[in-house]
Amino acid sequence: MKKHFKIAVLSGDGIGPEIIDSALKVLDVIAKKYGLTFEYKFGLVGGAAIDETGDPLPPETLKICKESDAILFGAVGGEKWDNLPTDKRPEKGLLRIRKELELFANIRPAKAYEPLLDASPLKPEIIKGVDLVVLRELTGDVYFGEPRGREVRNGERVGYNTMIYYEHEVKRIAKLAFELARNRKKKVTSVDKANVLEVSGLWREVLNEVHADYADVELEHMYVDNCAMQLIRRPKDFDVIVTGNIFGDIISDEAGALTGSLGMLPSASIGERYAFYEPIHGSAPDIAGKGIANPIATILSAAMMLEITCKVPEAARDIERAVEKVLEDGYRTGDIWSPGTKRVNTAEMTEEIIKRIG
Ligand code: IPM
Ligand code: MN
Repeated sequence: MKKHFKIAVLSGDGIGPEIIDSALKVLDVIAKKYGLTFEYKFGLVGGAAIDETGDPLPPETLKICKESDAILFGAVGGEKWDNLPTDKRPEKGLLRIRKELELFANIRPAKAYEPLLDASPLKPEIIKGVDLVVLRELTGDVYFGEPRGREVRNGERVGYNTMIYYEHEVKRIAKLAFELARNRKKKVTSVDKANVLEVSGLWREVLNEVHADYADVELEHMYVDNCAMQLIRRPKDFDVIVTGNIFGDIISDEAGALTGSLGMLPSASIGERYAFYEPIHGSAPDIAGKGIANPIATILSAAMMLEITCKVPEAARDIERAVEKVLEDGYRTGDIWSPGTKRVNTAEMTEEIIKRIG
């Protein structure tokens, strides 16, 4: 079995470097415990890369990514770069990585942690036991569809984008959804807008076709507006939600907010060849450099890397258990702190997690 992994580390902006540092410390401990070695190559991305090179994804960074087994990513963006044109913004670095590496599947788990139930905007009895995954298609849809543009027609400004899916794009994400569900609660909810959009009609058709090979998994279809509502009313009923790029962007933020703690949510973006791991939250410029950011989302993203890329699920479980234990023991960074719990900074939180990995 493969024991040596090349990891591209792209810390990015704001709190990115601090939380990545925490994840690397945890990976050091895991490496020793499981006899793995990680070879890190660091690359510039986002605003940090714009400042150095004028490009949010410089060629050297892309090269490092293409030579890696996995990419560990912090966060990008900040006020400083907010007024740049869309094409030059830090976010464009992220979108180009997704497209260039064909990271077509974005996996975003949302799980309610018992000690944090009070952090949810929903009633504890509604949120308790929630354990779902949003599987978002990441390289198609209106994000990348052509034609797109801005122009003047009959003296009036217009802007337009194209919502488009090819059969093969839907097929590969559908397969992954059923595979994921097979190892979970065996239920897939496919989300679309088939009452209005042709592209959704195709989406639904292909989902049904692929489902024929997965009779052991239940498939339900849901319109995206209804899904937005059901996620609030009965989030426990969901297992794997599979959807397109733009609906997935929105629904995954909603799913993330359910648990009340954006600082806890990891993600993985995978393709046939590459894999990319990042926390869901942004670069939080307001607290950058203060050493108080919550490192858990990034540490859990590293856990997803250990499971999916390194194929050491036991190591991932070690980290997840350590995080649960730390929360049970009452340690909280500022974003999840409540009266009666112990407030810790980024380094202390990381230390407490490491102690419990054993
Ligand atoms: C996300 C973000 C990105 C997206 C932005 C930063 C381009 O919102 O990862 O969900 O829309 O995909
Ligand atoms: Mn988003």
